[in-house]
Amino acid sequence: MKNLSLIAAIGKNRELGLDNHLLWHIPEDLVFYKEMTWGKNVVVGRNTLFSMPSKAFENRTAFVLSPDNLDVSFDVNSFDSMDKLLNYIGTNKDEFMVIGGASIYQQFIPYVDTMYLTEVDEYFNADTFFPEFDVNEWDVEVLGEYSYNELNYTRNKYTRKRVK
Ligand SMILES: NC(=O)c1ccc[n+]([C@@H]2O[C@H](COP(=O)([O-])OP(=O)(O)OC[C@H]3O[C@@H](n4cnc5c(N)ncnc54)[C@H](OP(=O)(O)O)[C@@H]3O)[C@@H](O)[C@H]2O)c1
Repeated sequence: MKNLSLIAAIGKNRELGLDNHLLWHIPEDLVFYKEMTWGKNVVVGRNTLFSMPSKAFENRTAFVLSPDNLDVSFDVNSFDSMDKLLNYIGTNKDEFMVIGGASIYQQFIPYVDTMYLTEVDEYFNADTFFPEFDVNEWDVEVLGEYSYNELNYTRNKYTRKRVK
């Protein structure tokens, strides 16, 4: 889907989180998240929604996959099935950005054309992981190489190769 992208930060073993928290604090990466999602629609799972501060959803419209109606302090659009949400995105011209967590990445990765992955060059203790994907199916562009508090990380843009 042309209007659907994904953003995540992962460790060397594709680690995403532990006990419903992120594994590192990299301020520059939070700025990148803000730049990439500002004014857009974000697709998020129930666990991640509750793990993030409400300011992470400021000036974004949240589309949450959850079987329940959610009681949160800002407006969210709840969808109780993947099919309904995909159908909504497919009939909409606006941009949507998948922001996690693990179960949401797993379900949406087949449908995204672009992934922005911040890849931290370290192993972490984690209980949630980004899905395995075949790198040969993607063109990779290095957007930058960075370091913060002895953590080295690379930001890559993956664009799905088109079948010729
Ligand atoms: N490093 C990163 O970039 C990054 C980004 C985002 C999140 N994270 C981390 O990822 C972890 C959370 O991931 P997670 O997999 O536990 O949770 P999640 O994907 O955020 O949310 C999972 C929940 O969403 C609901 N859900 C998912 N698919 C659904 C569907 N098809 N229909 C209806 N409801 C659906 C279910 O809610 P119910 O349980 O109510 O059924 C499910 O338990 C946290 O540690 C977080 O910090 C990391």
